[in-house]
Amino acid sequence: MSDILTVKDLNVYYYMHRGISGKKEKLHALKDISFSMHEGEILGIAGESGCGKSTLAKTICGMNKNFTGTLILTCKSPQMIFQDPAGSLNPSKKVGWILEEALRSGCKEKISKEETEKRIFEAAEDVKLGKDLLTRYPYELSGGQRQRVGIAAAIIRKPKLVIADEPVSALDVTIQAQIMNLLKSLHEKHGISTIFISHDLRVIYKLCDRVIVMKEGRMVEIGDRDAIYSAPKEEYTKELLLASGIGE
Ligand SMILES: Nc1ncnc2c1ncn2[C@@H]1O[C@H](COP(=O)(O)OP(=O)(O)OP(=O)(O)O)[C@@H](O)[C@H]1O
Ligand SMILES: [Mg+2]
Repeated sequence: MSDILTVKDLNVYYYMHRGISGKKEKLHALKDISFSMHEGEILGIAGESGCGKSTLAKTICGMNKNFTGTLILTCKSPQMIFQDPAGSLNPSKKVGWILEEALRSGCKEKISKEETEKRIFEAAEDVKLGKDLLTRYPYELSGGQRQRVGIAAAIIRKPKLVIADEPVSALDVTIQAQIMNLLKSLHEKHGISTIFISHDLRVIYKLCDRVIVMKEGRMVEIGDRDAIYSAPKEEYTKELLLASGIGE
């Protein structure tokens, strides 16, 4: 199976201005990250808050150009699904408009009105969002429905790679399960390679083929799901498993 993504020696620094002196503070957010991802794989990224998961996601998606190292993507425009669908959807626009915007953004060719409509209906159907919801505003939807809109917006341009950054963390447990099943079914139906980020190893277990464990900007461990969960090599991975209520 060919690789869809290769990351080699990736380093990201953030520079922050401090006070009136204008002194810059430097934060080394990603440290020597190297891994590759197979086409069609679901790769989990786990690690506690602040370890650099979102920084890695944004850098892979091209939202952070300030990095050193190598990033090779064999597909165009990976798409992101965010934790907080309310924050990532334009509150003043109806769902249909939001999906149309997602379809057109970054797309140079002109898409006909009929094609646009067809693609919006297809995306809505893929995420099991009733057509009647297309004329609603995001605030008129439940949290789970809003996340379905966020997922539809991410897949409407038929990306080969999707990065879901804590997509279920803001949802209650039953809705979490529905959204996870949805991501799994989209992966099966369209073969979308998926990076799934979560601080919760129980959630990662349900979905992912392989897992990366991160700590303080570094990769601590990478391996097949069952190996990581049944025989973690690193002490930190064991701690994280225990913190997620897994292991003895
Ligand atoms: N734009 C930014 N400017 C400066 N520092 C940042 C910026 N974004 C993130 N950071 C810092 O980089 C580190 C990694 O943050 P990041 O958001 O990648 O972590 P995370 O693993 O996604 O955390 P969480 O689980 O809370 O979402 C943190 O110390 C954070 O404060
Ligand atoms: Mg994050």
